[in-house]
Amino acid sequence: MIVMKPVVRVIDLWKQYEEGSKNSFALRGANLEILAGETVALLGKSGSGKTTLLNLIAGLDRPTMGLIEVDGQDLETLGEWGRTELRRKRFGFIFQFFNLLPTLTAFENVFLSLELIGKPDPTLARDALASVGLEGKGRRYPHELSGGEQQRVAIARAIVKEPALILADEPTGNLDTTTGNQVLELLERRCREHSMSLLMVTHTVLTCRYAHRILQMVDGVVTEQTPNSETKR
Ligand SMILES: Nc1ncnc2c1ncn2[C@@H]1O[C@H](COP(=O)(O)OP(=O)(O)OP(=O)(O)O)[C@@H](O)[C@H]1O
Ligand SMILES: [Mg+2]
Repeated sequence: MIVMKPVVRVIDLWKQYEEGSKNSFALRGANLEILAGETVALLGKSGSGKTTLLNLIAGLDRPTMGLIEVDGQDLETLGEWGRTELRRKRFGFIFQFFNLLPTLTAFENVFLSLELIGKPDPTLARDALASVGLEGKGRRYPHELSGGEQQRVAIARAIVKEPALILADEPTGNLDTTTGNQVLELLERRCREHSMSLLMVTHTVLTCRYAHRILQMVDGVVTEQTPNSETKR
């Protein structure tokens, strides 16, 4: 039997932004495990704690209480430098507002991601852009691309490092339904082909079609939904 190792393990995670205030817990004992190669959708109302959870997993912020392990390593013991290294090398990020650097071309946005991990290979950047259907558009600046194209640059930027996990916070939140679906399909396919795990925050149930598992965040706690029988795989 093959035992799949979790890429991320979150145990009894609590987050309070404002110390002392009574009802300010954004997370209240959240638990989560993501296995290698898994696509997980995270649903939940606005304010339920989804982004908070992603930021903590990414090591961008620190929990009030609880444990986060990435590749079996406790984030807390890694220290600031260790967390930065881990974030650069093992994680890819995709945001709702694309977050491309406006003064860099599409190619440069992707290439920068490689430079940051000491792998400045222009061929890899070009291949990544081609793999999201943006061949020939590498010289364009973000404002010269459509929303869907910008998000595809963001996907190329995330996958080019072949990270263990992609954290996506409402990646289709700013796209029309058709473009959003195309982007999701592409993201899911790329993750599958490269055995990358994907944790994707979403408001829409439709997005879950692309997930192995659906999790629901309610008031800072994660609950598992029934297995996704309608998954496309
Ligand atoms: N930096 C912060 N300082 C103080 N409170 C915060 C901060 N960030 C988030 N919160 C609060 O924590 C709670 C959870 O917020 P979070 O952003 O995680 O929700 P979310 O599920 O991502 O919502 P949305 O779907 O609207 O993006 C909310 O009550 C929010 O106001
Ligand atoms: Mg959010």
